[in-house]
Amino acid sequence: MRNSLQFFWPQILCFILFSFQFEVQTKSTIEPCNSSDSCTSLLSYLLPWDSKVSEIATRFHVNVSDILASNSLFPITSSSAHQILRAKTLVKIPIFCSCVDGIRRSMSTIYTVHAADTAASISEGYGGLVSIEQIKIANSINATNPLTSGGTLVIPLPCTCFNNVNNGGSAVYMSYVVQRRESLSSIASKFGTTFSDLETVNGFWEATVDPGDILSVPIAACSSATLKWYDESMIVPNGSYTLTASNCIKCSCEPMDITMRCVPSGLDVPCYNLRCKESNLIIGNECVERSETACNVIQCVYRGHRGGKILSSMKNSSYLQCPDNLCHSVAPCWPFSSYPEDPFGMSPKPSPSLPLPVSKASLSASNGRLGQFLINVLQIFLFLKFILIF
Ligand SMILES: *[C@@H]1O[C@H](CO)[C@@H](O)[C@H](O)[C@H]1NC(C)=O
Ligand SMILES: *[C@@H]1O[C@H](CO)[C@@H](O)[C@H](O)[C@H]1NC(C)=O
Ligand SMILES: *[C@@H]1O[C@H](CO)[C@@H](O)[C@H](O)[C@H]1NC(C)=O
Ligand SMILES: *[C@@H]1O[C@H](CO)[C@@H](O)[C@H](O)[C@H]1NC(C)=O
Ligand SMILES: *[C@@H]1O[C@H](CO)[C@@H](O)[C@H](O)[C@H]1NC(C)=O
Repeated sequence: MRNSLQFFWPQILCFILFSFQFEVQTKSTIEPCNSSDSCTSLLSYLLPWDSKVSEIATRFHVNVSDILASNSLFPITSSSAHQILRAKTLVKIPIFCSCVDGIRRSMSTIYTVHAADTAASISEGYGGLVSIEQIKIANSINATNPLTSGGTLVIPLPCTCFNNVNNGGSAVYMSYVVQRRESLSSIASKFGTTFSDLETVNGFWEATVDPGDILSVPIAACSSATLKWYDESMIVPNGSYTLTASNCIKCSCEPMDITMRCVPSGLDVPCYNLRCKESNLIIGNECVERSETACNVIQCVYRGHRGGKILSSMKNSSYLQCPDNLCHSVAPCWPFSSYPEDPFGMSPKPSPSLPLPVSKASLSASNGRLGQFLINVLQIFLFLKFILIF
């Protein structure tokens, strides 16, 4: 028996049914809490109609850049906010999950009522994440206290934290509204989790779900906790990235092996110290040093930031035999691995005449047009794929 089951007992007991006068009964996973702490969580939002990214950001009171990051949309440009996402696209919304009246809930979304709005139309705009009844209760809306145009409403949204752990690994929990013809297994495979994980997390006695139910889906995440960073901690869900160090560094969670990969963002912001000391490797770069007896993979890795300074260090991993995938994809270190330390403590852009070892992930480190072009193509491809999936 998994020990995580014990952890979820309170939640299993608190699994409750909401029933509404005009709606089918829907189930929702509730996590009890007793402190004022909070966590990062996600909403899986099925767009009810075509919307600009900026409109979605306003609807949920989150930043445009955070929506782009949660959905791996890159690069961020001045036109990103105007990008239109089509109806029925599944968009991940990052929200702050806090503890309100003993249960996990997000209460930071404020909605301004328009003239034609009804509680039903507002609920529809949130893709089933909040019911008509929940909007009414949270805002004491009734016959004598109706919606008033220009007034504001708090939109209570479902979220869970579960200590950001699942099966002993880091996780971020995402609230997901079950759609027609979906089952626990189909939802599990959609998000890289398993049927039994969903069952354990949500504490269902019967393994059936109905349209409108709100599940808590564990998304594997990369955490900086094991990475020896100074003064910084971060948790990035699979398939997302986070910008840090004044937007100079972009850390993404690699879907293949759930490892954190931090590289220069390439955004148009002033960034210094992107190069590891005593080398000409830039954060995210790696090179291979081969000898007859070993293969050393040397990487320049991000270590957090402090007082406006980006910290990095060299990481040397020795293998008895060169791993095949590395041998072919990573450039040799020689003669570039040792480089005089920057006397000014700043790392200007490397001179273009020096051929830098370039790995897949470090493409974004180069400011070259080709690199940016390839990234754009990749992003467009991923974005199309993202849309096609749904
Ligand atoms: C409530 O607080 C106690 C003591 O701080 C802690 O042991 C317990 O796990 C908490 N329960 C929940 C549901 O967070
Ligand atoms: C949005 O961005 C601003 C400034 O960039 C920041 O101060 C604010 O905390 C961000 N809001 C959220 C919800 O992350
Ligand atoms: C409507 O809500 C207000 C404020 O919560 C309350 O004072 C009033 O009694 C309620 N009216 C009805 C008809 O429930
Ligand atoms: C990460 O996400 C991708 C797709 O979003 C999925 O295919 C993969 O299984 C996930 N990886 C893990 C370890 O959850
Ligand atoms: C990496 O480690 C190996 C063995 O530990 C050592 O021989 C090699 O010189 C190191 N390379 C660098 C650049 O530190």
